[in-house]
Amino acid sequence: MSAPAGKVGNGSGFGKIILFGEHFVVYGLPSIASAIGDRTVAKIEPSDRYELVDSRPATEGYKEKKKGEMERSMKLLMEFMKIDVVENPVRITLSGDLFCTSGIGASAAMATSVARAFSDLYGLGLDDEKINAISYEAEKGSAGTPSGIDNTCATYGGLLWFVKDMSGGGSNTMARIRLPNPVEVVLGSTGISQETREIVADVRKQKEEDPGKFGKLFSDYSRIAASAKNALEGGDLVKVGKLMDMNHDLLRQMSLSCREAEEIIAAANAAGALGAKISGTGRGGYTICLTPGKGLQEKVAAAIEAMGYRAMTTVLGG
Ligand code: MEV
Repeated sequence: MSAPAGKVGNGSGFGKIILFGEHFVVYGLPSIASAIGDRTVAKIEPSDRYELVDSRPATEGYKEKKKGEMERSMKLLMEFMKIDVVENPVRITLSGDLFCTSGIGASAAMATSVARAFSDLYGLGLDDEKINAISYEAEKGSAGTPSGIDNTCATYGGLLWFVKDMSGGGSNTMARIRLPNPVEVVLGSTGISQETREIVADVRKQKEEDPGKFGKLFSDYSRIAASAKNALEGGDLVKVGKLMDMNHDLLRQMSLSCREAEEIIAAANAAGALGAKISGTGRGGYTICLTPGKGLQEKVAAAIEAMGYRAMTTVLGG
């Protein structure tokens, strides 16, 4: 494929946060996740050699830690799209306002933005379904056995109920969740980056070693997910908060929390958050704290920052 002279391809992908079900979603249990307004933006232009310029804002050490993941993802993406950057070299420039750290879906946001920018550069006119499929392939480079939740949020946006198809032949279930009113949340960053595929592989090992424990964790989580959907749709935020705490407790039992996340959660709870949990890969990354109302949101963000952690504010269902 080659692009018309002077043509530049542009694309973007959303970041995401997981409200319920990280890791469980890999095994076909439902997950509830939301895109956030912040995005990664990709610009691709023909060049005399292949070059990837990564100007995304990121937590210290993130890009070094994720270098291998990123290279694997880009390779898978280009193979899937049948793009040969040796024959037709391009410069890919990544930017945008998504602050990259573990737990925010940065790898999927990157893959979605690059797939869209290639589609634009070569005039392929790919629809969201195709972009999502490409982004899923790229996610295999970062998550190993991805559920598909991150690329789905990055591509479509919004608050989603997502269930991975485990039959191999069917399609994933994706339904929009509509909140009666937008809800403020605070994301507290531990500043720690993790390789998703390593942590996903470790959870799989734990599950194989102790199927009894995981059977109980899975059935406890299934009840949490069903109640969470009803509570979100009914606007019962106190219940949503309690369910987030319960979900976090299950993640703790899978050794997915860490000291920094626990400090953020304790500070958020002391400042009045209705619930808080890690979000995404775990053992670092982000925590999500439920803080309805601007006043509570600011108070919780200030409490997290007072502990020396970075806090970001956003709105679900906005
Ligand atoms: C990562 O954002 C979420 C995980 O559940 C992996 C996946 O769903 O592919 C840990």
